[in-house]
Amino acid sequence: MATASKNPHLPFGDQQTAPWYGKDILSVKQFSRMDLDHIFEVAHEMRAMVERVGAFDLLKGKILANLFYEPSTRTSSSFMAAMQRLGGAVIPISEVRYSSVAKGESLPDTVRTLACYSDVVVLRHPEVGSAALAAKHCDKPVINAGDGVGEHPTQALLDTFTIHEELGRLDSLVVTMLGDLKYGRTVHSLARLLGQFDNTDLHYVSPESLRMPREIIDEIAHGGAAQTEHTSLDDIIADTDVLYVTRVQRERFEDDSAYDRVKDAFVITPDVLAAAKEHMIVMHPLPRLTEISLECDQDPRAAYFRQMEYGMYVRMALLALVLGKA
Ligand code: CP
Repeated sequence: MATASKNPHLPFGDQQTAPWYGKDILSVKQFSRMDLDHIFEVAHEMRAMVERVGAFDLLKGKILANLFYEPSTRTSSSFMAAMQRLGGAVIPISEVRYSSVAKGESLPDTVRTLACYSDVVVLRHPEVGSAALAAKHCDKPVINAGDGVGEHPTQALLDTFTIHEELGRLDSLVVTMLGDLKYGRTVHSLARLLGQFDNTDLHYVSPESLRMPREIIDEIAHGGAAQTEHTSLDDIIADTDVLYVTRVQRERFEDDSAYDRVKDAFVITPDVLAAAKEHMIVMHPLPRLTEISLECDQDPRAAYFRQMEYGMYVRMALLALVLGKA
């Protein structure tokens, strides 16, 4: 990883030589394929332990500050569950309007404060680059839980873990990302991560106004991955191994009429899935609105609820790694 290690004064029992110890997690660009293998191995162990004993004391005595400036259900609660299942404690700040942020306190001062009381800070913030800014001012590891339309690296890690668990590989796949590819930070991070794998083709299906940003396509093309843009799913659904659906995010639009024009551009129904392979998966970072109909939920290919559970194991692994306990 690119960042320097934090926590120079190591408490007894922490593994200072662990490669992830004290590191910030800000972008998927920090992760190589070998890193993913290691994270997945630890996430597997976490899953086995949770299934066996529910909770255990690996991070007993450690505290997570969970700082969310934007709404969240999954990321916020799965980080809390992850820390608690590892025996640690959580400072939850999900309503920043009740914190000193409401008095005008800056992000650097807020994270400096939380670093005094905790061992790791998880941050969601509406501005691109906010996690990097926080990390600069924080002497404890900062984990980016979504910075505006920028990145959502832990989501991409849990997404790749889901694909690996469900389909057994990350190479030689046809991955189709559908919906809001312009503002969807989850697809920005996931495409970057999957772009590293051999023979994995990326297809982007979106309305014209919500295309994958050019700079991300160019960056991934530099690594050699095949990418194709479409305005219809019809051409590609039969070949797709992973259909990654995203919500059109009203909160990212300044103009309601622009949102209304594209909000129902794609809806996955049982009829759409009838044209898909028998052995493929449908994913969604959630929350969903209308883009996947409820009738699809019973289809065994619908992996989006299993995906949420995989997320907790990956976040347990990440907390243990940056705190030197895995
Ligand atoms: N997938 C995801 O980030 O969900 P939340 O917004 O509920 O955290």
